[in-house]
Amino acid sequence: MTSLRIRRPDDFHVHLRQGDMLRDVLPSTAMIFGRALVMPNTLPPVLTGDDAVRYERTIRDAAVMAGASAVDFQPLMTIKIVASTTPEIITEAKAKGVIAGKLYPEGVTTNSEDGPKNLRSLFPVFERMQSEGMVLCLHGEVPGVFCMDREEVFLHSLRDLAVIFPRLRMVLEHVTTAAAVQAVMDTSFLSPGVPGNVAATITPHHLLLTLDDVVGDKLRPHHFCKPIAKKPSDRDALVRAATSGNPRFFLGTDSAPHARDQKECASGCAGVFCAPVAMEVLAEVFEDHHALDKLEAFTSEFGARFYGLPLNEGHVTLMKPKDSPYAVPERIHIVDGEIVPFRAGETLRWLCEV
Ligand code: DOR
Ligand code: ZN
Repeated sequence: MTSLRIRRPDDFHVHLRQGDMLRDVLPSTAMIFGRALVMPNTLPPVLTGDDAVRYERTIRDAAVMAGASAVDFQPLMTIKIVASTTPEIITEAKAKGVIAGKLYPEGVTTNSEDGPKNLRSLFPVFERMQSEGMVLCLHGEVPGVFCMDREEVFLHSLRDLAVIFPRLRMVLEHVTTAAAVQAVMDTSFLSPGVPGNVAATITPHHLLLTLDDVVGDKLRPHHFCKPIAKKPSDRDALVRAATSGNPRFFLGTDSAPHARDQKECASGCAGVFCAPVAMEVLAEVFEDHHALDKLEAFTSEFGARFYGLPLNEGHVTLMKPKDSPYAVPERIHIVDGEIVPFRAGETLRWLCEV
């Protein structure tokens, strides 16, 4: 049996939800990942330091209930940047342990109806994030633009922000295009004397999917997410970026569970629940591209370094059991329904254990 022991990974983008759903999905993340950056697009949203402290407590309580292997999981908290966010809210949130603010342009994805309509009015907020050392996480899509072009059009704003706020660390979340990969690499050189301030997260599913896997043959709602998977050439650029050893690209799973009936319906929610298979899928992709030696840095080093966090102490082991590959369940039962995980019903070559 082949095995690979790596430093315990971090997930720098996850949706843990609330209530019963939180309790049902948290173990998939908390049993493997040392830390995860928890997205604030809950209902109601996480808008202030106090909201984040409350949400963190709820997550920690759920981790205790999930059992021994989840208790040392550390949620990393974010607030949502909306039109009413002020510089004072940033300073107060930073003091309460919030490490990032997440900006969703209006209407681009789940629970983003309160997103800002224009970025310019938020410049005082970005200024304060820069001086406080709070990271700005960007859902990089422009609403109203044709869906395949939304990310690429957003890159103009990214370049502008990188010039105007050269010390504001920004993460372009869940990149899906070759153009975004290039933009992140280019911003390293925008301001002479200042190290590049832009990084990007890449999801496991965007390393595998193209638009064909969503709508090319049958409609596959469990592959539908925002930003939508793009062309094969885009997917290949993501794989090159993830396996390149470039520290600007690191793991954010964007694991985004929705109940099955909210996905398999006439107006389905966007989101792929990839947490239960994230490390296994990554091992598969990195192995297929002869880059297993680059996996640990992508999952366990580059993100922590960008955020200025110490590396995790523990380790996980990726195993490749010859006789018993990992059979991904068709469904995960939750209190009031079920969730279909990414790669449901398939067998995977790798299995990740703490
Ligand atoms: O597909 C997505 N689902 N993309 C996002 O940006 C949000 C997420 C969710 O919260 O469901
Ligand atoms: Zn997300």
